[in-house]
Amino acid sequence: MATQLVRNIRQLINVRKENQLLRGSGLAILPSIEDAYLVIEDGRITEFGEMKDISSSLLRIDHSTDASGQFILPCWCDSHTHLVFAANRENEFIDKLKGLSYAEIAAKGGGILNSAKKLNETSEVELFNQAWKRLKEVTQLGTGAIEIKSGYGLTTEGELKMLRVIKKLKEKSGLSIKATFLGAHAYPLEYKDNHQGYIDRLIREMLPAIAKEKLADYIDVFCETGFFSPEETEMICQAGMNYGLKPKLHVNQLSSIGGIETGIKMKAVSLDHLEVMTDDDIKNMQNSGTIGTLLPSAAFFLRMPFQPARKLIDQGAAIALASDYNPGSSPSGNMNFVLSLSCIQMRMLPEEAINAATINGAYAMDLQNELGSIMVGKKANLIFTRQISSIAYLPYAFGTNLIDKVMIAGEWQS
Ligand code: NIG
Ligand code: FE
Repeated sequence: MATQLVRNIRQLINVRKENQLLRGSGLAILPSIEDAYLVIEDGRITEFGEMKDISSSLLRIDHSTDASGQFILPCWCDSHTHLVFAANRENEFIDKLKGLSYAEIAAKGGGILNSAKKLNETSEVELFNQAWKRLKEVTQLGTGAIEIKSGYGLTTEGELKMLRVIKKLKEKSGLSIKATFLGAHAYPLEYKDNHQGYIDRLIREMLPAIAKEKLADYIDVFCETGFFSPEETEMICQAGMNYGLKPKLHVNQLSSIGGIETGIKMKAVSLDHLEVMTDDDIKNMQNSGTIGTLLPSAAFFLRMPFQPARKLIDQGAAIALASDYNPGSSPSGNMNFVLSLSCIQMRMLPEEAINAATINGAYAMDLQNELGSIMVGKKANLIFTRQISSIAYLPYAFGTNLIDKVMIAGEWQS
């Protein structure tokens, strides 16, 4: 691939010399260069700086793009999604609007078990085709790295099918993709009164098969009242860790039952959701190396309290932002909206939100050496904005698509 030059960039955002997981007041520091240039070779960033310092040999490069008036940012790193699913659940959405409770919806065959039934009836090819469309859509919205979970199979065959789809997405797409095994998303009906029976299946049947095909990077459990207890969560994660899968967990979405302590004890890469946090939970996060991944669009869609981002940041916890794209609690993978929600509803500053959705998101997928900032050697996964007045305009003007173009590994996306 030829050398490419991007010149006259109004502002190059999140430029860094070294990697660091950001926390506390460091999250509000978003280094940038005004009137900048950027050089890309073989899909990677090789040089950047101020236009006034550009060497004359660079100006003779054939492949050159004029980014006058545009801001360039590293692509969003969406570290928590369920992008592979078989069907939307807008019927459930209508039922909820009409006042039906979660329990009533579940009794009508709704929720995760509904998605699992549909997924098991859907072919791998069909699942891939649907997921591919969603991946294309979120790429256009600026996502350049994404974590995708299984968890709508809940059978060995279904979970393997989902993870194979994720593997194919990895192979076919230029995006950096991480796969997470979430067999412990819900108990299938036939195991409602036999939790240990399902856990045994997860550990003895699913995990070895997944490990054999190298289908997952992480292990996830929905640690929640009515789903998996902290003890069950630990048992499942320990088994996953024996196969080299690091924990990344759903905790404290609806209640605080000890998932934070359990996750930190196991050195989870991230603990995600965090709508319901006690003071002790926040203190535990603050003293840990585990990232708290906030999913404000899930809180928005379910009309739940938003995550206590300010408290977490001000007390020094490391946080990331992600979309939770899934058919039940966040039927949108739009990270631009996540950015707006985090500022409007959680009082994050635009700089904090951008860092949390880029470099800290990259850390939450162990991709910090590849993505998440403008740094020499990193992949050229870049957002080119439309002509905007300042970087704060991005979260401020919610709902408007302010992205002009997206580049993945040096290639324009269309
Ligand atoms: O992250 N909370 C658990 N899992 C998903 C929602 C699953 C669903 O409703 O399909 C979430 O919100
Ligand atoms: Fe989720």
